[in-house]
Amino acid sequence: MKDYKRILVTAALPYANGPVHIGHLAGCYIPADIYVRYQRAQKRDIKFIGGSDEHGVPITIRAMKEGVTPQQVVDKYHAIIKESFEHMGISFDIYSRTSNKVHHETAANFFKKLYDDGLFEEKETEQYYDEKAKTFLADRYIVGTCPVCANSNAYGDQCEKCGSSLSPEQLINPRSALSDAVPVKRKTKHWYFPLQNYEPWLKEWIIEGHKEWKNNVYGQCKSWLDNGLQSRAMTRDSSWGIKVPLPDAEGKVLYVWFDAPIGYISATKELTDKWDDYWCKEDTKLVHFIGKDNIVFHCIIFPAMLKAHGNFVLPDNVPANEFLNIEGDKVSTSRNWAVWVHEYIKDFPGCEDVLRYVLCANAPETKDNDFTWKDFQDRNNNELVSIFGNFVNRTFVLMHKLCGGKVPKLHEDILDAEDKWIMDEIQNSKIKIENHLEEYKFRDALYEVIDLSRKGNQYMQKKEPWIVAKSLEENPEVQKSINNTLHLCLQLTANLAVLINPFLPNTARKMLNMMKVVNKMLDWENAGKLKLLSVGYSLKAPELLFRKIEDAEVTAQVEKLKSGLVKPVDNSQLTDDSKKNEQPATSNLKPAIQFDDFAKIDLKVGTILKAEKVEKADKLLKLEIDLGFEKRTIVSGIALHYKPEEIVAKKWLFLEVE
Ligand code: MF3
Ligand code: ZN
Repeated sequence: MKDYKRILVTAALPYANGPVHIGHLAGCYIPADIYVRYQRAQKRDIKFIGGSDEHGVPITIRAMKEGVTPQQVVDKYHAIIKESFEHMGISFDIYSRTSNKVHHETAANFFKKLYDDGLFEEKETEQYYDEKAKTFLADRYIVGTCPVCANSNAYGDQCEKCGSSLSPEQLINPRSALSDAVPVKRKTKHWYFPLQNYEPWLKEWIIEGHKEWKNNVYGQCKSWLDNGLQSRAMTRDSSWGIKVPLPDAEGKVLYVWFDAPIGYISATKELTDKWDDYWCKEDTKLVHFIGKDNIVFHCIIFPAMLKAHGNFVLPDNVPANEFLNIEGDKVSTSRNWAVWVHEYIKDFPGCEDVLRYVLCANAPETKDNDFTWKDFQDRNNNELVSIFGNFVNRTFVLMHKLCGGKVPKLHEDILDAEDKWIMDEIQNSKIKIENHLEEYKFRDALYEVIDLSRKGNQYMQKKEPWIVAKSLEENPEVQKSINNTLHLCLQLTANLAVLINPFLPNTARKMLNMMKVVNKMLDWENAGKLKLLSVGYSLKAPELLFRKIEDAEVTAQVEKLKSGLVKPVDNSQLTDDSKKNEQPATSNLKPAIQFDDFAKIDLKVGTILKAEKVEKADKLLKLEIDLGFEKRTIVSGIALHYKPEEIVAKKWLFLEVE
C-alpha cells in the first residue's frame, strides 16, 4: 500500500433536477460520509467534496416540464438537496454547484488545454434534429427501442433496462423525448475525445494495476475495455451549459459528463487555496464514491481526461455501490416509487441516524438490494433499540443503582474469565472495524459494532449484577464484582461511542453527553482502550438513544408509496409508458391557491375494483371504486395513459371538489 499523506473524497454530484431519494444516500453519500468521518477521527488530512450537477439534459427537460428556466430549476433543487444532506449529517467540507463562475472557468480552461494540445478530433456528422422543438437531440432528448433488449423506452445514451450504453444512431424507431416527433438528420460539428488512444494505458492502469477494486467495478471496467473504446463527443448543441471556449462554437456547450467531474476540482478550488496539494501531488489518495450507473465516467472517461491533461492524480479507488430497490421494485422517479429524503426527515424527525443505520446495514455493496419499511422497523426495533440502545441504557441504569452514579473501581485481582473475554473483545473489534472501513466494507464494519454491543449484553447477562447485589448484606465483598462488571460495561459504552460515531454521529453525541466527556474522546485512537472513563467520575442519567418504531408508522409509509399519494416529483426520466404522450409544457405551473380553496377539496384514497374503456371515447375509462365508506362509479380521462388491467386493484388518490 502506498504511503499517502492526504485523502480527497468526492461523492457524485447529483443532478439538480429533483430532490434526492434514499437510493442516492445508500449508493454513495452515506458510505462516503462514514469513510470521511472515520478518517477525520483518525486525524488524517482529508477533504470531502460535493455539489450539485446543474447542466445537461436532465435539467433542461425538467425546466421545460415545469415551464420555468433551467436556472430556476437548479436554484430550487440545489437548495432542497443541500438541505437534505445537511439534515442527514452528510458532512461535506464544501457543497458547491457547477453553475458557479469558478467552475465555468475551470472546465473551460480544461477543455482549452486539451484543444490546444491537439487532443480532440473535430468532426462534422449528421445528428438527429427535432424540427418541432428546433433542437438537436442527443443523450436523453431522444428515445427509441433498445437494439439489445427491445425496451421501447431506451435513451440515446443508455438503456436503463439492460444497462447497455448506446448512441442515438443505435436506437430503433427513434423519437424526440421533447415532442414525440420523428427526428430528421442534420449536420453539426462537435469535438470528440478519442478514448481509444488511452485504451492501452487504461488496461495497464485498471486491469493490471487495480485488481483490488470491488468486483462490480472492476468487472464493468474490464467489459468496457474488452469491447474497445471509441471517440466520444465532448460538446453538445444547447444553450444551457458551459460555452465551448472556441471562436467558431456558437450554440455549443461542453457535454455535461465533461464538465461535471471537473466540478470536483472547481469545488476544491473554492474550498482551499491549497487545492493543488489535493489534486496534483502524488501522495494524495483520491477516492470517488458513486452509484453503479456512474462507473464508466469515473473509471474510464474522467481518468483518461485527467491523464490527457496531465499533472493530476488519478483515483486510488472507486467504491461504487449497486442500486437500492424499494419494496421489491426498482426506484422510478416518474412513477414516484421512491422514498424522498426531505419527506423522511419530516415524517421521522430525530430519526436521521436510524435511516443512516438501515441504509448502511442493508447497503447494496455487492449486488442490488431491497429496502422495505418492515425491515426498517425490524432493524430499528430489534437491533438499535433492543441490542445497542438496551446495552447502553442498562449499563447506565445499573451504574446509578449499584455504584452511586459514578464510574466504579476496577479490582484487577479478581478479574475472571468473563471479564477477560469482554476486555479482549473490546480490543479485537477495533482492529476488525478499522480493517473493514479501510477496505470500504461498511456493512461488515457496522455489523461488528452492533455485535460488540450484543456481546456487552451477553456479558451483562452472565454477570447478573442485579442478582449479585441481593447478597450484599451478608457479603459486602461482592460489591467488588459488581464494580468490575459495571466498570467494564462503562468502558465498553465509551468504546461504542467511538466506534459508532462514523456511522451514527447523533447517537455518538448523545452518548458523549451522558458520559459528560468532550468530543476529543471520539478520536479513533481511543477505540480499543479500556481506560476512557476515569474512576470516580460521576455520569448523567441515561438518555433514550432510539425510540421504538410502531407498526402504524411503517404501514402509513407503505400506503403512501403505493397510493402514489405524493404527485410525481420528477418527470425528467421519461421511462414509463404513461409519459410517452406527454407534450412539453411551456407553463404548467398554476398560481398557488388559497387555503380556503384547498379546504373545499376532499382527498380520498380508493381501490379500483373495475376499469373498462368507454366506447367511442378513447380518452375515457369507466372506473368502479371503493372509497372504504362507499362504492362509486366514475369516468376519468386517463385512458391514453393507463390500460384498465394496469390499474385494477391498485389504490389511487381521488379528489372531490364542491
Ligand atoms: N449527475 C450525475 C448523476 O446523477 C453524477 C455526476 S458525478 C460527476 O448521475 F462526476 F459528474 F460529478
Ligand atoms: Zn436494453
